[in-house]
Amino acid sequence: MAGILGFGGYVPERVMTNDDWSKLVDTTDEWITSRTGIKERRIAAEDESTADFACHAGSRAIVDSGLTPGDIDEVIVATDTPEVYTPDTASFVQTRLGLREIPAFDLGGSGCAGFVQALDVARARVALSPKNVLVIGVEVITRLIDWEDRATAVLFGDGAGAVVIGPERAKAEVLDVVAGTDGSKAGILTLTTGGTHRPFNAETLASGEYKTLTMNGQEVFREAVRRMSQATTEVLANTGKSVDDVALVIPHQANKRIIDAVRKKLGVDDSKVYVNVHAYGNTGSASVPLALSEAVGQGAISEGDLVILTAFGAGFHWAAAALQF
Ligand code: UT7
Repeated sequence: MAGILGFGGYVPERVMTNDDWSKLVDTTDEWITSRTGIKERRIAAEDESTADFACHAGSRAIVDSGLTPGDIDEVIVATDTPEVYTPDTASFVQTRLGLREIPAFDLGGSGCAGFVQALDVARARVALSPKNVLVIGVEVITRLIDWEDRATAVLFGDGAGAVVIGPERAKAEVLDVVAGTDGSKAGILTLTTGGTHRPFNAETLASGEYKTLTMNGQEVFREAVRRMSQATTEVLANTGKSVDDVALVIPHQANKRIIDAVRKKLGVDDSKVYVNVHAYGNTGSASVPLALSEAVGQGAISEGDLVILTAFGAGFHWAAAALQF
């Protein structure tokens, strides 16, 4: 048995609207709103970076769980925009939150599916031996993207979300998590520079390719709809539940049109899908835990509710979780 003991979320104060973007690149509020549903997003302050975000969300989740930092036995940080190249962000979180000398590691590179994948790892670790695992999804993505590329830059925002997973039901039981990968589609959403294949060097820095996110938007869109629907159907089947049993679906917040297409494919009513993409844009692996903690904070989830988390990300990865509140 693995359950969620506490939730936490964090977004920076600075708001950037679509109109703000239209002053920097050739875009309009109308284009961004109609294609994505995004109205504004949050941007990290100059003196903030990924570990700060992770610690804010993480400490809120610890407080919400009624635990102290000393009660945490393990940390997993899902991020594609780490504090530094090495060591991982989890190392900074371990010391800054005053945690014991526990295992702490990142799950990186899975894009926006990272948090739900990390939840899968955490619940398996808890089932193996009872412990409290802090799971964080965090991105300061606006610092690494190309601010001159209108096709990608306007989509993203910064944020963090976290949960504490423990060996009791507490606030919600993690009934099941499913996950999958189709690596043949790695090329549809990728940042190819900075690794061993194509390191940072004078050439890649001068060309600007180190910050260029290559994205086949329409193929990502199609795969996102297909895989988030498939993962949701699979996790429901594994838990012996049907779509009619679901009280709330919390999908990865990349694009309102993707969310609507998933909703229609699954046959779920509009009122049963949590959406905050208008306020934060796509916050990568922070998107699902941020929406989850916000939904809980707003009272959108009641005792007895079956809640589905579903996400997709670069890889191409997908994952879904069934939570019984
Ligand atoms: O976490 C994963 C992150 N990625 C995603 O989730 C992306 C999934 N895909 C999508 O959300 C959509 O494909 C987009 C929102 C990225 C694009 O919407 P679309 O309806 O697929 O538009 P498009 O790519 O077909 O582009 C249509 C036009 C193009 O101009 P032309 O070639 O028709 O003249 C683009 O150059 O829109 C142009 N365009 C823009 N125009 C104004 C692209 N970006 C912008 C922009 N403002 N920001």
